[in-house]
Amino acid sequence: MKLLGASSLLFGTALLLNDLTAVNALKLFHRRKDFSDEAVLRRRATMSSDLDNHGDSQYYTNITLNGQSFSVLIDTGSSDLAVGSDVPGASSSGKTASVDYAIGEVKGPIELATLEFEGFSVQNQAFIRDTTGDQKTGEGIIGLGPSSSSVVQDTLGASTGNPPLDRIFLQNTSTPNYLSVYLGRSNDPTDPFPGDLTIGSLISGYENVTSQPKLSVTVVKSTNSQHWGSLLDANGIIGPDGVAINTTSKVAGTSKNTNQLRVIFDTGFTFPQVPTAVADAIYSRVPNATFKNITGNIGGVWTIPCTVELNVTFKFANVSFPIHPLDTSLSQFNEVDELGNPICLGAFQPIQQPSSTYDAILGMAFLRNAYMLINFGDFVNGLTDKVADPYIQLLPTTTDLAEAHNDFVTERLDGIDDTGSFHLLPASVQSDPTETQSGSETFADKIHPYIPYIIAGSVAAGVILLVAIGFCIRSGRKRRYQRLHEPAPVGLHHQEPPFSQYQPSRRY
Ligand SMILES: *[C@@H]1O[C@H](CO)[C@@H](O)[C@H](O)[C@H]1NC(C)=O
Ligand SMILES: *[C@@H]1O[C@H](CO)[C@@H](O)[C@H](O)[C@H]1NC(C)=O
Ligand SMILES: *[C@@H]1O[C@H](CO)[C@@H](O)[C@H](O)[C@H]1NC(C)=O
Ligand SMILES: *[C@@H]1O[C@H](CO)[C@@H](O)[C@H](O)[C@H]1NC(C)=O
Ligand SMILES: *[C@@H]1O[C@H](CO)[C@@H](O)[C@H](O)[C@H]1NC(C)=O
Ligand SMILES: *[C@@H]1O[C@H](CO)[C@@H](O)[C@H](O)[C@H]1NC(C)=O
Ligand SMILES: *[C@@H]1O[C@H](CO)[C@@H](O)[C@H](O)[C@H]1NC(C)=O
Ligand SMILES: *[C@@H]1O[C@H](CO)[C@@H](O)[C@H](O)[C@H]1NC(C)=O
Repeated sequence: MKLLGASSLLFGTALLLNDLTAVNALKLFHRRKDFSDEAVLRRRATMSSDLDNHGDSQYYTNITLNGQSFSVLIDTGSSDLAVGSDVPGASSSGKTASVDYAIGEVKGPIELATLEFEGFSVQNQAFIRDTTGDQKTGEGIIGLGPSSSSVVQDTLGASTGNPPLDRIFLQNTSTPNYLSVYLGRSNDPTDPFPGDLTIGSLISGYENVTSQPKLSVTVVKSTNSQHWGSLLDANGIIGPDGVAINTTSKVAGTSKNTNQLRVIFDTGFTFPQVPTAVADAIYSRVPNATFKNITGNIGGVWTIPCTVELNVTFKFANVSFPIHPLDTSLSQFNEVDELGNPICLGAFQPIQQPSSTYDAILGMAFLRNAYMLINFGDFVNGLTDKVADPYIQLLPTTTDLAEAHNDFVTERLDGIDDTGSFHLLPASVQSDPTETQSGSETFADKIHPYIPYIIAGSVAAGVILLVAIGFCIRSGRKRRYQRLHEPAPVGLHHQEPPFSQYQPSRRY
């Protein structure tokens, strides 16, 4: 099957899911529970959920266009709205556009319709009616990135072509210029909240985000490369041994301190992408850790036993963001080792497509640990007055470390806490199987055609397969472990590297 668009892609995934439903393999480390609404309410008394969490791999929200509903992937890594099926009564702009994502693309006529999104109504909102089939009927993607990276705006010009958030902020300048996102964790035994997204208001209980340090948005000179990103503290990642990992930025002119990584925040990217040395420092000292190229196009990731709890912390402006151990390694992908034992994937993946404008992409597994506010400041196209520079505020959400630890024991260890007997291998014998291959862009170039096809999500956007994988996880009471030497499931095969045609124009 040639996977050039998500129609085939989704079709393929549908086959995969059917395949998976053959076997019930919900193992002890990934027991699913039904959480009562009460439990949700107890914890998040006033939070409403505007997001649907598809297996921690994609987060969707509902919008309407001329009254027609669409479930759209929220993507702070891209800046255009696209939907996969017809909008009744939409008017044509007479132009077409295409947007290339890390995975897949959308392409088709630009149309205009009335958008309802988060309680806001926008007339004549421009959007792409995807005709590649990448977006399913009733689905789509909403780019929440800076409008300077919008293809539709490039094509139609400012104002008419403005992306949704710019339209919302401009049509009522009393609406505060910010977006906030909270991503929930699907297998969290104590916080089963899917997530929320707000525009111009805060999630109640989390108002404190506004008193967090304001992280300046790093401004990128080249057109279409602007993202919501900032600088991590110097050596600002604390590894599982409690020691800061040495980090060196490869981005030219990042800051005076080259130990500060330049990161971008991307709600559309499943596996956070980090420098190879960082991924190695986190995972390579775990006994039985192996670095694998996962069939099914996940790409090169560390795998570790699912029972190993790893505590990692990121630091921004001296504020610590502990990562929940259920986010450091992911059980959702049903991988097994040679003996058939379940293994988990290291969520912090060596960056598969190094960029000249950032060192790391802090995607979902990071963002589940930080409530993020993005203040657009002057980045709204068409503002007549100088407002202020854009900034990002992050509020740590994994603050009860004992609870996080207990969550891990419940989910992965069947309630029996034997983590006390765990020891990392000494740093000196640390094996580094990725070093020779992936230390440079050569490795990335090599694996490049195969990469994050399923998993990596997108800098620019849509990780379409994951919807279905997530769907599988949510609804799936049945799946199986797939051995690495087995052929990829039907539909995940692709004879052609998916990036062969997208790559050159991929927008970051
Ligand atoms: C989105 O709409 C679908 C279909 O009406 C509904 O099942 C789902 O709960 C909605 N999701 C959210 C987050 O409101
Ligand atoms: C504009 O936004 C302000 C603040 O959110 C709100 O009070 C007001 O009703 C809005 N005006 C219109 C015309 O929607
Ligand atoms: C909010 O900030 C105040 C002052 O810093 C602090 O006392 C309070 O505990 C914080 N609340 C939450 C929910 O973090
Ligand atoms: C990290 O950098 C410090 C200072 O340059 C150095 O002393 C230390 O050995 C480095 N650690 C590792 C693990 O490379
Ligand atoms: C590592 O693998 C060996 C043999 O494959 C096994 O006996 C041992 O229990 C594993 N260790 C961990 C921590 O999983
Ligand atoms: C962090 O704290 C140290 C000492 O308290 C201070 O020197 C440094 O400037 C702070 N860094 C940031 C990014 O705020
Ligand atoms: C991880 O952190 C928790 C909370 O501080 C702690 O109880 C647990 O022992 C830590 N686990 C490891 C393996 O370091
Ligand atoms: C990863 O696996 C795919 C599928 O088996 C293969 O085509 C590709 O060459 C592998 N990449 C590397 C770097 O080994």
